[in-house]
Amino acid sequence: MNDVPAPAPLVLVIVGGSMAAVKAPAVLRRLREGGARVRVIATQAALAFITELSLATAAEGEVATDNTWFMARPDAQHLTLAKADATVVVGASADLLARAALGHASDLAAATLLSVRGPVLWVPAMNERMWRHPAVQANAERLRTWGHRFLGPEVGAFGTRGEGSGLGRMAEPEDIAAATLALLRPPAARDLEGLKVVVSAGPTREYLDPVRFISNPSSGKMGFAVAEEARDRGAQVTLVTGPVSLSDPVGMQVVHIESALELREAVLEAARDADVVVMTAAVADYRAAQRSDEKQAKVAGDVTLHLTPNPDILAELGEHKGGRVLVGFAMETHAGLERAALKARRKNADFILLNYPTREGTAFGGDDNEVTLVRPDGTHDAWPRLSKREVARRLLDEVRRVRAAAAGAGG
Ligand code: C5P
Repeated sequence: MNDVPAPAPLVLVIVGGSMAAVKAPAVLRRLREGGARVRVIATQAALAFITELSLATAAEGEVATDNTWFMARPDAQHLTLAKADATVVVGASADLLARAALGHASDLAAATLLSVRGPVLWVPAMNERMWRHPAVQANAERLRTWGHRFLGPEVGAFGTRGEGSGLGRMAEPEDIAAATLALLRPPAARDLEGLKVVVSAGPTREYLDPVRFISNPSSGKMGFAVAEEARDRGAQVTLVTGPVSLSDPVGMQVVHIESALELREAVLEAARDADVVVMTAAVADYRAAQRSDEKQAKVAGDVTLHLTPNPDILAELGEHKGGRVLVGFAMETHAGLERAALKARRKNADFILLNYPTREGTAFGGDDNEVTLVRPDGTHDAWPRLSKREVARRLLDEVRRVRAAAAGAGG
């Protein structure tokens, strides 16, 4: 049996001669965190802004430059580097755009761009007047006609000498990495392109005083898996998360909250123009009726906590559902199917994923989950034990079915 895993995708990062070249190490790190292998070319001009050592450290590998190109070596370096699965040009300067658009092979970067096979993403960074010049725009347009893509430039502050703000600022490293990783996926897999998806994840903390809170053991893994799967399928994702020990995923907006009230505010705000809301967060049902600003001293004997119910965010979204698809999670220890269907009806959710917190290795903290999809009419599908990522995949497949059915019903 051949179970050798496929090698990680290979991304060629070409660093151009712009001030934004200093952001290239962050892009390299993010790409590697996202599971890609990287190769780096730095143009001569790039090396005026960033050292080879910083790039090599971030890439954990060699940096190809015009000097290495002309070294005696057995391979034609521009052809070897061009075999990457995708190419991203970070800090693309007007000159590099021009060299590529004119088909120059005068330096390693330009020569390599003539022989790349996979998709190419340009991330320009230059002064606004330069970017807007018809010569630069014509070069960019020419590259686009060959199927090259562009990310940015964006409006924002740029330069270190008070050049000010305007169009020309390079996209942020995490967005560059996400856009590059997305290129590695076949277009058929990008079936959520154009959709805005909001995902809540993790626990909430309901503080009793500055140092004590009520919470639960939610790890956030299920919600993060949904957010990452949606991102990889092309959706624009906002992840609203309670305190978890996972690092922020790249390529999405991440909002950190602590309490249910903060979660409510962040989710309602993000949900305004959303197409899909997945409430994976384990929202605490109650909070302290009165939160103390000072640490409460220990007293002898029993104490009574006065708790007040938190607003039900999913139910609130359900009241003004609009065209959104709403998905909830439910944890039940008994009468799960009936209770989950009832919950879906009461909260006006399209479906609920029911899981059992008491089953070992699933739900809280685990990497797997065993869930049953329950619809408001009580119909359900029990899924086997799956990785949380696979649960996320099936969840989003069901979201697509719900949207397709609604589109069909609506004519
Ligand atoms: O009613 P129950 O807490 O079992 O419902 C679980 C679902 O409702 C989850 O999707 C959870 O994120 C959501 N929920 C909510 N606001 C609450 C409690 C739960 O949105 N206050």
